[in-house]
Amino acid sequence: MQASILEVRGLSKRFGGLTAVSELAFEVREGEILGMIGPNGAGKSTTFNLIAGTYPASSGEIVFKEASILGLAPHQIARRGILRTFQHNRPFEGMPVIDNVLVGAHRLFTKNSHAEEAVRRSRAEELIEFVGLGGLAAADVGTLSFGQGRLLEIARALAGEPRLILFDEPAAGLAPAELDRLAEIIRGIAARGIAVLLIEHDMHFLLPLAHRVVVLNFGAKIADGLPDEIRRDPAVMDAYLGSHAAHS
Ligand SMILES: Nc1ncnc2c1ncn2[C@@H]1O[C@H](COP(=O)(O)OP(=O)(O)OP(=O)(O)O)[C@@H](O)[C@H]1O
Ligand SMILES: [Mg+2]
Repeated sequence: MQASILEVRGLSKRFGGLTAVSELAFEVREGEILGMIGPNGAGKSTTFNLIAGTYPASSGEIVFKEASILGLAPHQIARRGILRTFQHNRPFEGMPVIDNVLVGAHRLFTKNSHAEEAVRRSRAEELIEFVGLGGLAAADVGTLSFGQGRLLEIARALAGEPRLILFDEPAAGLAPAELDRLAEIIRGIAARGIAVLLIEHDMHFLLPLAHRVVVLNFGAKIADGLPDEIRRDPAVMDAYLGSHAAHS
């Protein structure tokens, strides 16, 4: 079994009287795609915000590469190798695609030499190619489709050379053909040795892609296992059917 790169233990987050994440424990292993699913409001994005340092935890521990990252600022956590995409695209308007990717590489470069600039640009171009936006490096970011904007977010996160990448519902709003492409990209990221923690609503997208899956409901973990085990788990079915009933 691969060693774990991220360990979350007894993690809780309260917003006033609401417990958004409750005594959560799980691990992400080296090179693995770990899926995280759960109904609306289950605490998935909050978990990401705790790992990325956007919110302070109320209690618990988060260990990355055998060192605690609890209480570090988001930029410090990014420098240690955890990068994320958001639930909504966040392009830098009025800039070409390549400059949007270069923003993600910013933390890696301290000097501003011409040699470094050339390396930086060629790496950004490779990533643009890798996510399937080849030929669009010079295009204004405003000309991208929604799906292309999503791929740009991924390229920008990769530009920061993460060891662990957090994706918050990357499939949301994509067309079926784009979903296949996205799955291929996520597999390619894991194949590069980058661990992936993937939040996804859509079980049809997630289950064939993830190596293991953690299921949240009302902030707590209700299941943890292989995709086939999750598919058959009665507690998971109940959580999803219950949430569908509540929405209809
Ligand atoms: N900044 C905040 N202040 C107060 N409550 C919050 C805050 N962020 C999240 N919550 C609440 O915490 C709970 C978990 O929210 P979270 O966004 O983590 O859920 P989620 O699993 O990502 O849901 P979705 O599938 O809808 O994205 C929800 O009840 C939400 O309203
Ligand atoms: Mg969310």
